[in-house]
Amino acid sequence: MRVTIFGTGYVGLVTGTCLADVGHDVVCVDIDQAKVEGLNRGVIPIYEPGLEPMVKANHAAGRLHFTTDAASAIGHGDLIFIAVGTPPDEDGSADLKYVLAVAATVGRHIERPVVVVNKSTVPVGTADKVQATIAAELRARGLEIAFDVASNPEFLKEGDAVNDCMRPDRIVVGSSNPAAVEKLKRLYAPFNRNHERIVVMDVRSAELTKYAANAMLATKISFMNEIANIAEKVGADVEMVRQGIGSDPRIGWHFIYPGAGYGGSCFPKDVQALARTAQQHGYGARLLDAVEAVNDSQKGHLFELIQRHYGGDVKGKTFAVWGLAFKPNTDDMREASSRTLLAQLWAAGARVRAYDPEANEEAERIFGEREDLVLCDSARAALADADALVVVTEWKQFRSPDFVRIRQALADAVIFDGRNLYHPDEVEAADLAYYGIGRGRSI
Ligand code: UGA
Repeated sequence: MRVTIFGTGYVGLVTGTCLADVGHDVVCVDIDQAKVEGLNRGVIPIYEPGLEPMVKANHAAGRLHFTTDAASAIGHGDLIFIAVGTPPDEDGSADLKYVLAVAATVGRHIERPVVVVNKSTVPVGTADKVQATIAAELRARGLEIAFDVASNPEFLKEGDAVNDCMRPDRIVVGSSNPAAVEKLKRLYAPFNRNHERIVVMDVRSAELTKYAANAMLATKISFMNEIANIAEKVGADVEMVRQGIGSDPRIGWHFIYPGAGYGGSCFPKDVQALARTAQQHGYGARLLDAVEAVNDSQKGHLFELIQRHYGGDVKGKTFAVWGLAFKPNTDDMREASSRTLLAQLWAAGARVRAYDPEANEEAERIFGEREDLVLCDSARAALADADALVVVTEWKQFRSPDFVRIRQALADAVIFDGRNLYHPDEVEAADLAYYGIGRGRSI
């Protein structure tokens, strides 16, 4: 099928590439000329395992095109996807300016019936706004062209995006128009293996499904962080508690890892946006507000542990920080817990030697040159001349370090483990003090 995708960010680029990979003819449009030129030369703007060879192969095979020419791209697709960003507005609600700008562009250029499919994470009711925007442009052109607006939210995770896209656990299609549903079913047929994965529903339910999924996952994390904080107070180990509850299939093993708080471009923004939508409809979403509040304070928890260890004075201390990205396998630092930690350390007069396997460049872009930050090119280099180690992101390569060597490197012989990667006994056996999240027994 002929598909047009607006936006070559995470969602647009990965979706476009996967659709091309199963044989569809895909044109990706972006307003960023440099990005489009780069993609046409095989330069991938994001770090995502497995994506680069797929983009190159499908581009070379002539099934995946990148352009800034919206008009010709709109002429190409039977299905036109909107996969542009929805950053938070000042009040936390999703800013729809990019989504509606694409809708207007579509309205200005369509010449034949199309299905416009919204993949961006948008508040309930956005499909109606997209519909109205396109209709207004058509009216201005004095044209009557049939079009439909469907919702098809994306559930892929950064770092595992290609896999999620190629092997989705569900495909949500929101549309009450049987012809549009049929088109989307045909498009996704190659991904719909073994059992029916396509769930068809009305547009508003599809829009809400996306927020409900992310809010549920964020709730699990904040819940576990709360239990961790209680564990710390009562002298229990949350890692034991996690193992004690995860085997109950009603709870499950996923997303019950306590840590330094959730970050990224989705959870913080989506929890806030859903709470805001609820409020706009006269409902105060107390649970969502609490999920957000717990996460905000959790991001400061590592620093609290550090302060506790140092009796409130870290002035002049140097901290080795392992991990800057909001999670492993990405270079993304949006809303990352590391940013809160670094800001707190700097405000308290401490210095940082940081290492991230992928996000060093991003850190340089965000923080610029500053004398209290050294970006190191290995985990070991970060330890040199440091007083203490703080682990913020659970990259695989940080999982089994040589604690004896760490002990030799650190002047103050202490590890703050923001992701509970280590067993306290193992760390303490190397004569290092250990602080984890919710590990009351070791404090
Ligand atoms: C999230 C969802 O998992 C995807 O399903 C969704 O499609 C995506 O948002 C989106 O809306 O686009 P992502 O933000 O890439 O994906 O990252 P996650 O793997 O979900 O992790 C989010 C944060 O939660 C990370 O900071 C991670 O460290 C934290 N986390 C995760 C925990 O603290 N504990 C856990 O048990 C799991």
